[in-house]
Amino acid sequence: MAEERIVSAENKDFAETSIEKTLRPQVLAQYIGQDRVKNELAVYIEAAKKREESLDHVLLYGPPGLGKTTLAMVIANELHVQIRTTSGPAIERPGDLVALLNELQPGDVLFIDEIHRLPKVVEELLYSAMEDFYIDIVVGQGPTAHPVHFPLPPFTLIGATTRAGLLSAPLRDRFGIVEHMAYYNEDDLVEIVERSADVFNMAIVQEGAHEIARRSRGTPRIANRLLKRIRDYAQVADQAAIDQAIADHALSQLQVDVRGLDSIDRKILQMMIDYYHGGPVGLKTIAANIGEENETIEAVYEPYLLQIGFLKRTPRGRVVTPAGYEHLGIPYSEN
Ligand code: ADE
Repeated sequence: MAEERIVSAENKDFAETSIEKTLRPQVLAQYIGQDRVKNELAVYIEAAKKREESLDHVLLYGPPGLGKTTLAMVIANELHVQIRTTSGPAIERPGDLVALLNELQPGDVLFIDEIHRLPKVVEELLYSAMEDFYIDIVVGQGPTAHPVHFPLPPFTLIGATTRAGLLSAPLRDRFGIVEHMAYYNEDDLVEIVERSADVFNMAIVQEGAHEIARRSRGTPRIANRLLKRIRDYAQVADQAAIDQAIADHALSQLQVDVRGLDSIDRKILQMMIDYYHGGPVGLKTIAANIGEENETIEAVYEPYLLQIGFLKRTPRGRVVTPAGYEHLGIPYSEN
């Protein structure tokens, strides 16, 4: 039964309210969108179960908010195993990794979010852990230092990253299953919004769900966040259901425009046009002007602007496209 398979997310970084938990689908059949990824995983999961082996290691990569953590939990659930979740920066020393691996039962899933941010010494320990299920570490210091060989139970490492290009080749090559998560289309987001509204016990008309879906940058996390805020507006207005008008009103208040861009997205485009004639502008220059980390611009803001064709990458830097100018209502001129 599904209830018996609900996985534990013991790491306190992942502590969630119960609503947050039910917002997350528990099994592949409830997971909306990402059909190619789901279909492939369903085969690998079934095969691993038939062979009574651990699932091969899985790398999930793609922009933030597309459900990589959720999918890792679904995979563990489908395999009927426990999942332990952590993140690259949280594993500071080899001992931290040993402690995590030590708690795994045969077949369990270890989920490492932001795996591109693992310290090098920890990453190197993972190689033998992933390939042959053992680790060799040195215990003690000075004259008492001695090597210890730790056999591990077979386990599945699921790594998630927004930056697959930053993974070293030896680490990347040890994942037998590599899946790219793409932005969601409008229909899938409508379904996700309707499901979430149902979890919230909130009525929503189809046009309302479409309005949110269109303005969520292809990202379920954004759709769910906007839905929560719109629900507040509906509540205050004593409106029984979310319709297109209340969605539009709330989204305007939240400064989310008709294409789903927020104030920072627009600031990036506007700044590039005002100060750099639309580019080319280097990533560092954009980040410095906006007051964000390079990595945030590259992983969070830029991918969607590229996807909808408002930005273009060139060898000399980023360039605002004619469509980007048009969206801001600024006449485009070739420079
Ligand atoms: N909530 C967030 N992402 C989801 C997805 N892909 N399917 C169902 N519910 C979700």
